[in-house]
Amino acid sequence: MSDGKPGKLWGGRFGADLDPALHRFTASFPFDRRLVRHDLVGSLAHARMLAETGILTGDDARAVLEGLAGILRDVEEGRLAVEGPEEDVHTWIERVLRERVGEAAGRLHTARSRNDQVATALRLYVRERLRELVGRVAELQEVWVHQASGHLETWMPGYTHLQRAQPVSLAHHLLAHVWALNADARRLQAAHHHAGVSVLGAGALAGSPLPIRPERSAYWLGFSALFPNSLYAVADRDFVLEAAFAAAVLLVHLSRWAEEVVLWSSAEFGFVELDDTVAKGSSLMPQKKNPEAAELIRAKAGRGIAALAGLLSALKGLPFSYNSDLQEDKEMLFDALDTAAGCLEAARVLAAGMRYRPDRMARALEGGFLTATDLADYLVRRGVPFRQAHEQAGRAVREAEARGCELWELSLDVLRSCCPQVEGDVYDALRPEGAGRARRSHGGPAPERVAEQLEAALRELETTRAWLAAAADPPVYAAYRQGQLLQGL
Ligand code: ARG
Repeated sequence: MSDGKPGKLWGGRFGADLDPALHRFTASFPFDRRLVRHDLVGSLAHARMLAETGILTGDDARAVLEGLAGILRDVEEGRLAVEGPEEDVHTWIERVLRERVGEAAGRLHTARSRNDQVATALRLYVRERLRELVGRVAELQEVWVHQASGHLETWMPGYTHLQRAQPVSLAHHLLAHVWALNADARRLQAAHHHAGVSVLGAGALAGSPLPIRPERSAYWLGFSALFPNSLYAVADRDFVLEAAFAAAVLLVHLSRWAEEVVLWSSAEFGFVELDDTVAKGSSLMPQKKNPEAAELIRAKAGRGIAALAGLLSALKGLPFSYNSDLQEDKEMLFDALDTAAGCLEAARVLAAGMRYRPDRMARALEGGFLTATDLADYLVRRGVPFRQAHEQAGRAVREAEARGCELWELSLDVLRSCCPQVEGDVYDALRPEGAGRARRSHGGPAPERVAEQLEAALRELETTRAWLAAAADPPVYAAYRQGQLLQGL
């Protein structure tokens, strides 16, 4: 800019402009413009620190802080388009600031490099998005918890190897997914916490000879920790990896649920009917009702996995500290977070549009001898060693199969011919509802256990909501909102 050409942060040692092809190739503005608010907030924290230390004084401090606040306001209110020939969002902000406040703008970059600047903006961005994802996870969990509360006695087959295994309740099955997402919420929160390390003051890589106070920048950002080493501060992207990992695992969880939606909505299972608002038709086959949203949720996990693998690959072998390779983190990270947010929203709508079919679930409990284990366990309670009980119950299954009936349709005499210890009360154990109700062990499908689980899940949701309510804006952003950026200076 010193040479009068807008949109460049250097010039002194250059005699010619960058080749346009390489300008386009190396520019990050097309994608890092979405960091504009976060970079402005980071700049406000930096400027405020500079003002507190006296590095930035009087009119200059006021011009810079008010100038940045004005840009932020205009961006937030949609009055200022974030576009231009600049190579990145940082350069754009400095150019706009200069247009608005003149020479004072040139003092903002004191004791700062784009290396600590971009890491700061990205950390703020990641925290904002992780908070959003935690909220969306809770919304989806709420749908399932609500549905589960109405199905504690809706019995269906539980599966292993995708073969009917033992009776469970629909509530139990839905809650299994609630717990998977609970782990995601906690992982996202942990990633949020780990992103809260302030790196402002690390400079390009080696700090500054000026009397800066990085702990003040950290305070204004609302970050709980301060970088321990300036090289590490600008080289570290673990917070990006952790956010991408949390998003990838979440997407994998959603894909497993989505696959069940695809299966359950097929005629072969028929466990759910999709509401018309959540299914799509075929252009050719008039009868079709396709679970397309579920299929796409299933597929999109691949993008989250790809983003994580791509990020790890970009970091692998990078020498410390900053390298331009780190610019490549953004699009992959953004895609992982956007994909997770989109899938969560789609899953919430889709989940709410599932009409469960208890009649079809009940029918699937027939013909598979799902209570054979319960017969064996009944015998164990009568003193038969499990291996023998297993053998005897197997014989009963063979009898029922030969007669084309259910275990509970065998007469007591026939049952006794296989399992000599059985009494008339065995039928409770043989009927799927009876078997399910009897599975009262910890975390099991018995309605009273599932009721406890529901309570526990609701408590977890409370914890999540409390976290969401407590996750505050950075103090410098609050000061901006309240017009108090200059207070105490
Ligand atoms: N666009 C860059 C990035 O995303 C900003 C930092 C550039 N720093 C530099 N020394 N070229 O990482």
